[in-house]
Amino acid sequence: MALSSGQAVEILRAAGETTRLRILALLSHEELSVLELCRILGQSQPRVSRHLKLLAEAGLVERFPDGAWVFYRLTVGTGGRGLVDLALGLIADGDAVLKKDADQLAAIAGERAEAAAAYFARNAARWDEIRSLYVSETEVESAILDALGEEQPGLLVDLGAGTGRMLTLLGGRAGRSLGLDLSQQMLNIARMHVGEAGLAACELRHGDIFATGLPDGVADLVTVHQVLHYLNDPAAAVAEAARLIGPGGRLMIIDFAPHRLEYLREQHQHRRLGFSDEEILRWLDAAGLEGGIDATLPTASGEGLTVKIWSGRRAADHKRSAA
Ligand SMILES: C[S@@+](CC[C@H](N)C(=O)[O-])C[C@H]1O[C@@H](n2cnc3c(N)ncnc32)[C@H](O)[C@@H]1O
Repeated sequence: MALSSGQAVEILRAAGETTRLRILALLSHEELSVLELCRILGQSQPRVSRHLKLLAEAGLVERFPDGAWVFYRLTVGTGGRGLVDLALGLIADGDAVLKKDADQLAAIAGERAEAAAAYFARNAARWDEIRSLYVSETEVESAILDALGEEQPGLLVDLGAGTGRMLTLLGGRAGRSLGLDLSQQMLNIARMHVGEAGLAACELRHGDIFATGLPDGVADLVTVHQVLHYLNDPAAAVAEAARLIGPGGRLMIIDFAPHRLEYLREQHQHRRLGFSDEEILRWLDAAGLEGGIDATLPTASGEGLTVKIWSGRRAADHKRSAA
Protein backbone atom coordinates (compact mmCIF):
# COMPACT_ATOMS: atom_id res chain seq x y z
CA MET A 1 0.00 0.00 0.00
CA ALA A 2 1.51 3.35 -1.07
CA LEU A 3 1.97 6.05 1.58
CA SER A 4 1.64 9.80 1.34
CA SER A 5 4.85 11.72 2.14
CA GLY A 6 3.17 12.94 5.36
CA GLN A 7 2.39 9.37 6.44
CA ALA A 8 5.95 8.26 5.63
CA VAL A 9 7.38 11.05 7.81
CA GLU A 10 5.02 10.14 10.67
CA ILE A 11 6.05 6.48 10.45
CA LEU A 12 9.75 7.26 10.25
CA ARG A 13 9.42 9.55 13.28
CA ALA A 14 7.66 6.83 15.26
CA ALA A 15 10.27 4.22 14.35
CA GLY A 16 13.21 6.65 14.56
CA GLU A 17 14.10 6.16 18.21
CA THR A 18 16.28 3.45 19.74
CA THR A 19 13.79 1.81 22.11
CA ARG A 20 11.02 1.90 19.53
CA LEU A 21 13.27 0.35 16.88
CA ARG A 22 14.21 -2.36 19.40
CA ILE A 23 10.51 -3.00 20.05
CA LEU A 24 9.82 -3.31 16.32
CA ALA A 25 12.73 -5.73 15.94
CA LEU A 26 11.44 -7.85 18.86
CA LEU A 27 7.89 -7.93 17.51
CA SER A 28 9.21 -9.02 14.12
CA HIS A 29 10.04 -12.34 15.87
CA GLU A 30 6.69 -12.91 17.62
CA GLU A 31 3.80 -11.23 19.39
CA LEU A 32 4.76 -10.21 22.94
CA SER A 33 3.06 -8.99 26.09
CA VAL A 34 3.90 -5.60 27.59
CA LEU A 35 5.49 -7.28 30.61
CA GLU A 36 7.72 -9.42 28.42
CA LEU A 37 8.80 -6.34 26.47
CA CYS A 38 9.60 -4.51 29.75
CA ARG A 39 11.71 -7.46 30.89
CA ILE A 40 13.68 -7.67 27.67
CA LEU A 41 14.18 -3.91 27.29
CA GLY A 42 14.96 -3.43 30.98
CA GLN A 43 12.57 -0.47 31.15
CA SER A 44 9.58 0.39 33.30
CA GLN A 45 6.04 -0.38 32.17
CA PRO A 46 4.97 3.30 31.82
CA ARG A 47 7.97 3.99 29.56
CA VAL A 48 7.45 0.95 27.39
CA SER A 49 3.71 1.63 27.20
CA ARG A 50 4.41 5.19 26.04
CA HIS A 51 6.64 3.90 23.23
CA LEU A 52 4.04 1.30 22.27
CA LYS A 53 1.35 3.98 22.17
CA LEU A 54 3.38 6.04 19.70
CA LEU A 55 4.03 3.00 17.53
CA ALA A 56 0.32 2.07 17.61
CA GLU A 57 -0.71 5.64 16.70
CA ALA A 58 1.59 5.47 13.66
CA GLY A 59 -0.12 2.19 12.70
CA LEU A 60 3.09 0.16 13.09
CA VAL A 61 1.91 -2.14 15.87
CA GLU A 62 -1.46 -3.55 16.91
CA ARG A 63 -2.54 -3.86 20.51
CA PHE A 64 -4.73 -6.76 21.55
CA PRO A 65 -5.92 -7.42 25.08
CA ASP A 66 -6.06 -11.07 26.10
CA GLY A 67 -7.61 -11.51 29.55
CA ALA A 68 -5.57 -9.45 32.00
CA TRP A 69 -2.59 -9.33 29.62
CA VAL A 70 -2.07 -7.01 26.68
CA PHE A 71 -0.15 -8.25 23.67
CA TYR A 72 1.39 -6.34 20.78
CA ARG A 73 2.28 -7.46 17.29
CA LEU A 74 3.45 -5.81 14.08
CA THR A 75 0.62 -4.63 11.85
CA VAL A 76 0.40 -6.65 8.66
CA GLY A 77 -0.29 -5.60 5.09
CA THR A 78 0.29 -1.86 5.47
CA GLY A 79 2.76 0.52 3.86
CA GLY A 80 4.14 1.19 7.33
CA ARG A 81 5.02 -2.48 7.68
CA GLY A 82 6.98 -2.24 4.41
CA LEU A 83 9.02 0.63 5.84
CA VAL A 84 9.65 -1.24 9.10
CA ASP A 85 10.82 -4.35 7.23
CA LEU A 86 13.08 -2.19 5.11
CA ALA A 87 14.59 -0.42 8.14
CA LEU A 88 15.14 -3.70 10.04
CA GLY A 89 16.61 -5.26 6.93
CA LEU A 90 19.30 -2.56 6.84
CA ILE A 91 20.63 -3.45 10.28
CA ALA A 92 23.60 -5.84 10.36
CA ASP A 93 22.77 -9.37 11.57
CA GLY A 94 25.21 -9.24 14.44
CA ASP A 95 24.16 -5.78 15.69
CA ALA A 96 25.05 -5.84 19.38
CA VAL A 97 21.90 -4.13 20.71
CA LEU A 98 19.40 -6.16 18.71
CA LYS A 99 21.35 -9.36 19.29
CA LYS A 100 21.23 -8.87 23.05
CA ASP A 101 17.46 -8.31 22.85
CA ALA A 102 17.00 -11.37 20.63
CA ASP A 103 19.04 -13.47 23.11
CA GLN A 104 16.87 -12.23 25.97
CA LEU A 105 13.75 -13.08 23.97
CA ALA A 106 15.11 -16.57 23.28
CA ALA A 107 15.78 -17.01 27.01
CA ILE A 108 12.21 -16.01 27.89
CA ALA A 109 10.80 -18.26 25.16
CA GLY A 110 13.03 -21.07 26.48
CA GLU A 111 11.68 -20.63 30.03
CA ARG A 112 8.12 -20.73 28.69
CA ALA A 113 8.82 -23.83 26.61
CA GLU A 114 10.44 -25.58 29.59
CA ALA A 115 7.51 -24.79 31.85
CA ALA A 116 5.06 -26.05 29.22
CA ALA A 117 7.08 -29.23 28.54
CA ALA A 118 7.25 -29.93 32.28
CA TYR A 119 3.50 -29.38 32.53
CA PHE A 120 2.75 -31.79 29.67
CA ALA A 121 5.19 -34.37 31.01
CA ARG A 122 3.56 -34.10 34.48
CA ASN A 123 0.06 -34.30 33.12
CA ALA A 124 0.47 -36.81 30.29
CA ALA A 125 -1.16 -39.65 32.18
CA ARG A 126 -4.02 -37.43 33.36
CA TRP A 127 -4.46 -35.53 30.14
CA ASP A 128 -7.72 -37.11 29.00
CA GLU A 129 -9.20 -36.25 32.41
CA ILE A 130 -7.94 -32.65 32.21
CA ARG A 131 -9.36 -32.26 28.71
CA SER A 132 -12.80 -32.98 30.02
CA LEU A 133 -12.58 -30.19 32.63
CA TYR A 134 -13.65 -27.73 29.98
CA VAL A 135 -16.76 -28.60 27.99
CA SER A 136 -18.26 -31.91 27.02
CA GLU A 137 -15.66 -33.60 24.84
CA THR A 138 -18.36 -35.82 23.36
CA GLU A 139 -20.13 -32.75 22.08
CA VAL A 140 -16.91 -31.32 20.63
CA GLU A 141 -15.98 -34.57 18.98
CA SER A 142 -19.41 -35.03 17.46
CA ALA A 143 -19.22 -31.45 16.08
CA ILE A 144 -15.83 -32.31 14.53
CA LEU A 145 -17.33 -35.38 12.88
CA ASP A 146 -20.34 -33.36 11.66
CA ALA A 147 -18.05 -30.73 10.15
CA LEU A 148 -16.02 -33.38 8.32
CA GLY A 149 -19.13 -35.09 6.91
CA GLU A 150 -18.16 -37.92 4.58
CA GLU A 151 -14.58 -36.71 4.01
CA GLN A 152 -12.02 -39.50 3.89
CA PRO A 153 -8.56 -37.94 3.86
CA GLY A 154 -5.69 -39.84 2.28
CA LEU A 155 -3.27 -38.47 4.89
CA LEU A 156 -4.35 -37.02 8.22
CA VAL A 157 -1.70 -35.07 10.14
CA ASP A 158 -2.45 -34.20 13.77
CA LEU A 159 -0.16 -31.48 15.14
CA GLY A 160 0.30 -31.46 18.93
CA ALA A 161 -1.26 -34.93 18.99
CA GLY A 162 -1.05 -35.27 22.79
CA THR A 163 -2.53 -38.57 23.93
CA GLY A 164 -3.79 -39.25 20.39
CA ARG A 165 -7.46 -38.40 20.76
CA MET A 166 -7.81 -36.85 17.28
CA LEU A 167 -5.97 -39.80 15.75
CA THR A 168 -8.24 -42.35 17.40
CA LEU A 169 -11.33 -40.28 16.51
CA LEU A 170 -10.43 -39.69 12.86
CA GLY A 171 -7.66 -42.16 11.98
CA GLY A 172 -10.17 -44.86 10.97
CA ARG A 173 -11.46 -42.74 8.10
CA ALA A 174 -8.01 -41.72 6.83
CA GLY A 175 -5.80 -43.77 4.52
CA ARG A 176 -2.82 -42.99 6.77
CA SER A 177 -2.31 -40.79 9.77
CA LEU A 178 0.61 -39.10 11.41
CA GLY A 179 0.72 -37.46 14.83
CA LEU A 180 3.48 -35.05 15.89
CA ASP A 181 4.14 -33.84 19.41
CA LEU A 182 7.03 -32.31 21.34
CA SER A 183 6.38 -34.35 24.47
CA GLN A 184 7.72 -37.90 24.53
CA GLN A 185 5.46 -38.66 27.50
CA MET A 186 2.39 -37.66 25.50
CA LEU A 187 3.60 -39.67 22.49
CA ASN A 188 4.04 -42.78 24.65
CA ILE A 189 0.42 -42.59 25.73
CA ALA A 190 -0.74 -41.81 22.19
CA ARG A 191 1.10 -44.95 20.97
CA MET A 192 -0.80 -47.03 23.48
CA HIS A 193 -4.14 -45.46 22.48
CA VAL A 194 -3.69 -45.86 18.73
CA GLY A 195 -2.59 -49.46 19.33
CA GLU A 196 -5.72 -50.14 21.37
CA ALA A 197 -7.82 -48.54 18.61
CA GLY A 198 -6.23 -50.95 16.10
CA LEU A 199 -4.96 -48.13 13.87
CA ALA A 200 -2.20 -49.86 11.95
CA ALA A 201 -1.54 -47.05 9.44
CA CYS A 202 -0.81 -44.50 12.12
CA GLU A 203 2.63 -43.14 12.88
CA LEU A 204 3.66 -41.04 15.87
CA ARG A 205 6.73 -38.84 15.71
CA HIS A 206 8.50 -36.41 17.92
CA GLY A 207 8.09 -33.08 16.11
CA ASP A 208 7.57 -29.38 16.43
CA ILE A 209 4.46 -27.67 15.11
CA PHE A 210 6.60 -24.70 14.04
CA ALA A 211 8.94 -26.80 11.91
CA THR A 212 7.31 -30.10 11.01
CA GLY A 213 9.89 -30.95 8.35
CA LEU A 214 7.04 -32.35 6.19
CA PRO A 215 6.76 -31.45 2.49
CA ASP A 216 4.38 -28.76 1.20
CA GLY A 217 0.85 -29.94 0.41
CA VAL A 218 1.41 -33.44 1.81
CA ALA A 219 -1.84 -33.72 3.80
CA ASP A 220 -5.54 -33.82 3.03
CA LEU A 221 -6.54 -33.02 6.60
CA VAL A 222 -4.47 -31.35 9.32
CA THR A 223 -5.93 -31.05 12.82
CA VAL A 224 -4.69 -28.71 15.56
CA HIS A 225 -6.80 -29.55 18.59
CA GLN A 226 -6.34 -27.52 21.77
CA VAL A 227 -2.73 -26.63 21.00
CA LEU A 228 -2.66 -23.02 19.74
CA HIS A 229 -3.37 -21.41 23.12
CA TYR A 230 -0.09 -22.83 24.52
CA LEU A 231 2.08 -21.39 21.78
CA ASN A 232 4.23 -18.27 21.72
CA ASP A 233 3.53 -17.70 18.03
CA PRO A 234 0.17 -19.19 17.09
CA ALA A 235 0.12 -17.37 13.74
CA ALA A 236 3.36 -19.09 12.72
CA ALA A 237 1.92 -22.48 13.75
CA VAL A 238 -1.16 -21.85 11.59
CA ALA A 239 1.10 -20.90 8.66
CA GLU A 240 3.14 -24.11 9.06
CA ALA A 241 -0.01 -26.25 9.39
CA ALA A 242 -1.51 -24.58 6.30
CA ARG A 243 1.66 -25.22 4.31
CA LEU A 244 1.01 -28.94 4.67
CA ILE A 245 -2.48 -28.79 3.12
CA GLY A 246 -2.72 -30.13 -0.42
CA PRO A 247 -5.28 -29.09 -3.08
CA GLY A 248 -8.85 -29.51 -1.81
CA GLY A 249 -7.56 -30.29 1.69
CA ARG A 250 -8.60 -28.85 5.02
CA LEU A 251 -6.93 -27.45 8.11
CA MET A 252 -9.16 -27.84 11.14
CA ILE A 253 -8.40 -25.80 14.25
CA ILE A 254 -10.19 -26.51 17.50
CA ASP A 255 -9.55 -24.08 20.34
CA PHE A 256 -11.24 -21.69 22.73
CA ALA A 257 -13.10 -18.48 21.98
CA PRO A 258 -11.76 -15.46 23.95
CA HIS A 259 -12.37 -15.99 27.69
CA ARG A 260 -11.38 -14.59 31.08
CA LEU A 261 -10.17 -17.63 33.00
CA GLU A 262 -6.86 -16.06 33.95
CA TYR A 263 -5.93 -18.97 36.26
CA LEU A 264 -5.39 -21.16 33.18
CA ARG A 265 -2.17 -19.23 32.52
CA GLU A 266 -0.79 -19.89 35.98
CA GLN A 267 -2.05 -23.40 36.56
CA HIS A 268 -2.25 -24.84 33.05
CA GLN A 269 0.44 -22.99 31.07
CA HIS A 270 -2.03 -21.32 28.70
CA ARG A 271 -0.43 -18.36 26.96
CA ARG A 272 -3.43 -17.02 25.09
CA LEU A 273 -6.92 -16.86 26.60
CA GLY A 274 -8.69 -17.99 23.43
CA PHE A 275 -8.88 -16.60 19.92
CA SER A 276 -11.40 -14.45 18.09
CA ASP A 277 -12.95 -15.57 14.81
CA GLU A 278 -11.44 -12.50 13.17
CA GLU A 279 -7.92 -13.47 14.27
CA ILE A 280 -8.09 -17.11 13.16
CA LEU A 281 -9.81 -16.27 9.86
CA ARG A 282 -7.15 -13.65 9.16
CA TRP A 283 -4.36 -16.19 9.73
CA LEU A 284 -6.10 -18.75 7.50
CA ASP A 285 -6.56 -16.14 4.80
CA ALA A 286 -2.90 -15.07 5.05
CA ALA A 287 -1.94 -18.73 4.57
CA GLY A 288 -3.97 -18.91 1.34
CA LEU A 289 -6.84 -20.95 2.78
CA GLU A 290 -10.52 -20.13 2.65
CA GLY A 291 -11.55 -19.91 6.27
CA GLY A 292 -14.89 -20.58 7.90
CA ILE A 293 -16.45 -21.28 11.29
CA ASP A 294 -17.68 -24.85 11.64
CA ALA A 295 -19.04 -24.73 15.19
CA THR A 296 -19.36 -22.65 18.36
CA LEU A 297 -19.91 -24.77 21.46
CA PRO A 298 -20.52 -22.83 24.68
CA THR A 299 -20.51 -24.52 28.08
CA ALA A 300 -23.91 -25.61 29.30
CA SER A 301 -23.79 -23.03 32.12
CA GLY A 302 -22.92 -20.26 29.66
CA GLU A 303 -19.87 -19.38 31.81
CA GLY A 304 -16.35 -20.63 31.30
CA LEU A 305 -15.06 -21.85 28.01
CA THR A 306 -16.57 -21.88 24.56
CA VAL A 307 -14.96 -24.27 22.11
CA LYS A 308 -14.71 -23.16 18.49
CA ILE A 309 -14.05 -25.20 15.38
CA TRP A 310 -12.59 -23.31 12.42
CA SER A 311 -11.59 -24.74 9.06
CA GLY A 312 -9.42 -23.44 6.25
CA ARG A 313 -9.75 -24.99 2.80
CA ARG A 314 -7.14 -25.10 0.08
CA ALA A 315 -8.68 -24.56 -3.37
CA ALA A 316 -8.96 -27.83 -5.30
CA ASP A 317 -7.16 -26.33 -8.30
CA HIS A 318 -4.24 -25.05 -6.19
CA LYS A 319 -0.94 -26.08 -7.81
CA ARG A 320 1.34 -28.12 -5.59
CA SER A 321 4.70 -26.41 -5.27
CA ALA A 322 7.78 -28.10 -6.72
CA ALA A 323 9.23 -28.68 -3.22
C1 LIG B 1 -3.44 -29.53 25.38
S1 LIG B 1 -2.51 -30.75 24.65
C2 LIG B 1 -3.64 -31.25 23.37
C3 LIG B 1 -3.34 -32.59 22.85
C4 LIG B 1 -4.32 -33.14 21.85
N1 LIG B 1 -4.33 -32.37 20.61
C5 LIG B 1 -5.68 -33.23 22.49
O1 LIG B 1 -6.51 -32.39 22.19
O2 LIG B 1 -5.88 -34.09 23.31
C6 LIG B 1 -1.33 -29.80 23.78
C7 LIG B 1 -0.26 -30.64 23.16
O3 LIG B 1 0.54 -29.80 22.35
C8 LIG B 1 1.88 -30.24 22.47
N2 LIG B 1 2.75 -29.16 22.06
C9 LIG B 1 3.01 -27.99 22.69
N3 LIG B 1 3.87 -27.26 21.97
C10 LIG B 1 4.16 -27.97 20.85
C11 LIG B 1 4.98 -27.75 19.72
N4 LIG B 1 5.70 -26.63 19.60
N5 LIG B 1 5.03 -28.70 18.76
C12 LIG B 1 4.33 -29.85 18.88
N6 LIG B 1 3.53 -30.11 19.94
C13 LIG B 1 3.45 -29.19 20.91
C14 LIG B 1 2.02 -30.62 23.94
O4 LIG B 1 3.11 -31.48 24.16
C15 LIG B 1 0.66 -31.29 24.19
O5 LIG B 1 0.71 -32.66 23.96
